[in-house]
This record gives sequence, structure tokens and C-alpha cells, in this order.
Amino acid sequence: MKHYLISFFSLISALALCLPATAQAPKSEYMTFDAAQPVLRGFSDALPAALGKSPDAATWSVWIKSQDLNIRQRLDLGEEDTLTNLLRWGVTYTKEYQIDREYLALYGKSSLVNAFAENRANDLIRALASPNANEGMLQMRAFLEQRGYSLKTAQDRARVKQHLLDNLAHMRDEFAEFREKLKTADLAEQAQLYAQRGISLDSNLWPDYALDRALEELVKAGKLKPGSVQRIAIVGPGLDFANKEYGNDFYPPQSIQPFAVLDSLVRLGLTDAKTFQLYTFDISPSINIHIARLQKNAVAGKPYVVQLPWNSAVPFSPEYIASFTQYWQSLGKQIGTPVQPVAVPLKVADEIHIQAVSIGPEIARRITPVDMNIVYQHLPITNPDEKFDLIIGTNIFIYYSAFEQSLARVNLASMLKPGGFVLSNDMLADKAPGQLEEAQRTTIDVRSQPVIQEHIYCYRRLP
Ligand SMILES: C[S@@+](CC[C@H](N)C(=O)[O-])C[C@H]1O[C@@H](n2cnc3c(N)ncnc32)[C@H](O)[C@@H]1O
Repeated sequence: MKHYLISFFSLISALALCLPATAQAPKSEYMTFDAAQPVLRGFSDALPAALGKSPDAATWSVWIKSQDLNIRQRLDLGEEDTLTNLLRWGVTYTKEYQIDREYLALYGKSSLVNAFAENRANDLIRALASPNANEGMLQMRAFLEQRGYSLKTAQDRARVKQHLLDNLAHMRDEFAEFREKLKTADLAEQAQLYAQRGISLDSNLWPDYALDRALEELVKAGKLKPGSVQRIAIVGPGLDFANKEYGNDFYPPQSIQPFAVLDSLVRLGLTDAKTFQLYTFDISPSINIHIARLQKNAVAGKPYVVQLPWNSAVPFSPEYIASFTQYWQSLGKQIGTPVQPVAVPLKVADEIHIQAVSIGPEIARRITPVDMNIVYQHLPITNPDEKFDLIIGTNIFIYYSAFEQSLARVNLASMLKPGGFVLSNDMLADKAPGQLEEAQRTTIDVRSQPVIQEHIYCYRRLP
């Protein structure tokens, strides 16, 4: 994959600066050299080469900014993955077979799968170039144009097609590499599996269900008390579009996790829907702009509608699906009102289950986006009452090395109240555990043959 001088996301960042800032939107700061000391000591035998063996404060402050930039540049590669998932799974623009994992492994080797890919690429290009392109397609078109592609002439489109097919081959090879690694990887190695991968924004409901189960266990164990979770942060809430599993490209881009988590918290009696504050921390300008817009709309009295889809073709056990279904049926009812969901394309109508909830402005206005790279940044909170009771981060730390995860631990701990919790489905590296100790691990059996389990790791801030 190529690297480009100006990234799509830097351009969106520049545009974001032109948006009116929310009055109370707080600003994140870089981790200081002093705060990083425990991690630098813990990793003294394995520091990144650019930091040198014994870095000083000046080296640190230059290094941290360049690393922050490097991470943000990985967003473009993640967006390429989203485009590839749209090519593999999309149902709005084509009638062609989907390219599931099995077919993906055969791409380049089977003339049948090659034909699926060719047809899908042709259909996708037609949809991207269409004057009636939907919001998701427009976003992808802008992304391609920003990366130097055009859809104007036959020659331009041939170039885009080659790019799409090259990316498909890249994903096939990347997945083969992950499968090989997973044969021998222990939990700690699995927790850094994507450390070199592009960072994507996609999301689905499975982690929200796992979080719900973990929160319930924390309540039952008496580790979380009624009404004790009023200040909440979600790191990396995601923006659901062309979902990595089943290409649900038939609804507009949306962020579900802040609302799903909030709904669980209210149902469990942990949070008062009238007084909570929820912050999202993300490096993605697309997400930050999306959340800023929904907050601004809420202040103007407009609700936010979330579509809640899931796909029953997943190879999960009947027990897991039954329990998930129960969760899904009540999802959103604590903080929203059921509304008519968008129509599901016929091709997937049998397997897609969907409902929609309208979240009232009095809830949505309490959600504030913060541009933050959790590996290197935090909010400098001096008032202890303004620290967080709970910080959630799923499918995010897997993108980082043990060293980076350890720095993130410092940032997370610095923003939590003593006794506050971080919940993640990625196990955080513990070579330099800092102020966070593991207080509970919730394990959910997703499937028995072969065994698939989901874990939620709950870390508590030491006093
Ligand atoms: C794969 S999505 C996961 C979305 C959602 N949490 C879920 O589990 O479905 C990863 C999210 O983390 C964000 N992210 C990745 N690295 C980050 C970082 N260093 N700091 C803040 N956000 C980050 C991405 O922009 C995106 O929103």
C-alpha cells in the first residue's frame, strides 16, 4: 500500500478547524516526559530506536509529536480497508455474491471468485460515480479523490478498479498472515495483533453486548454501586459504515457505541440519564465531526436516530445468539424511543435483524467529542470531581504495541477517579501496569467448535 503526503484525514482535520467549536469542548495535551517515566523505565531494554537508550525531555517532546502524527496517518490505510469491506460485502450497489473469508482466501486462485470480485468492482465504481450516491458512497468518493483517484474517464475508472482489486489482494494476504500468527499467539500477542495495521473506524454490536455482560458482573460483584457512574468516556467509539463482517452499507454512517453503553448503564441503575456527561476520545476527524454535529443538532432540539442491525448468519453458538437477542431486543429503550428502521435490501433480508431507536436531544446533547490520541494524550483534569468514573475502549488497543499500550495505561489512569474503571476487550500489556490493576475478567463463550471466546478486561484505578 502506498503512503501519501497529504492524508484524507489531515484534510478533514483542517476542515474541522473551520467548524464552530463547542463552547466547553476540552482540549487534550501530550503526556509529559515525567509522566512517561515508569513506562520508559519498564521498557528500558526495548525502547523505540528513535528515542535512544536514555532519552531526555527534549527528545521525548519531539518524538511524541512525530509518533502522534504516524498513528493518525494510519487512518488512511484503515479507510482503504473499509473500502475493501464495502467491495466484499456491500449489498446496495450490486447483486453479485459476497466475498466472505473463504472466498477471499481464494481470490487470485479461483476464476469464479475472481469474477465475483471483477463484477463487484465494476458495480461499486458505477455507484461511486453516480450523481445519486448515498452518504457513505460520497464519503468513499471523496476519500478516493483525495488520494489522487478520479472516476471521470474510462482510464480513471480502470485505475480505481485496479486499486480496489490490489487492496482486496492485500487484505487476503494480511488475513493469511494473521491466521498464521494466531496459530501460536498467546493472549498477550493476540492483544497486539494489528500493531502494524491501518486503523479503521468500523464497529458492530457484539462488543456492546460483551460490555453489557461485564458491567452486569461488576454490579453483581458489588464493584460498581448504583448511581456511581456519571462521568463516562468512550475511547474510539467508531463510525459504523460498511461493517467489517457483513457490509451493512444500507444505512447512513452512525456511531452506536456511546448510546449502547449508556443504555446498559441506565438499565443497570449505574447512571442517571438526566445528569450524566459522556465524552468521546478519538483521533478520527470523521468521527469527531460526526459527534460534534449530533451534539449541535441536539442543542437545536433534534434527535439522533441509530439503526441497530445484526446478522444471524454469523457462525456463533445458539446459546450465544439467544442471549445476545435478549440484549438486543431491549437495547436503546432506556434512552430512546423505537422508530421505523431503514428498509433492508431483499438480498440480505433473511439474515439481517434490525430495529431503530430515536435518541432524544436531552440525551444526545450530553455527548461531547474530544480529539485525542489515547496513546500519547490525555485531558489535564485538575478538579478530582471532573475525573471519569468509567472509560470504555473496545477494538482499539489491539492496534498498538506493548509499549504504546503501556503509555495509554498512564493516560487512562490519569483521567480516572480512584476506584474508577477501564473496560476493554483487548488485554492491556502489563509490563508497566502503572495505576491500573485488573479487577475482573468477563469471559463469554461465543462458539465451541472451534472455541471462540470474547473477554472483557476490567481495570480499576488504584487509590
Ligand atoms: C475498529 S474501531 C472500534 C469501534 C468500537 N469501539 C467498536 O468496538 O466497535 C477503532 C476506533 O478507535 C479509534 N482509535 C484508534 N486509535 C486511537 C487512538 N490512539 N486514540 C483514540 N482513538 C483511536 C478509531 O478512530 C476508531 O474510532
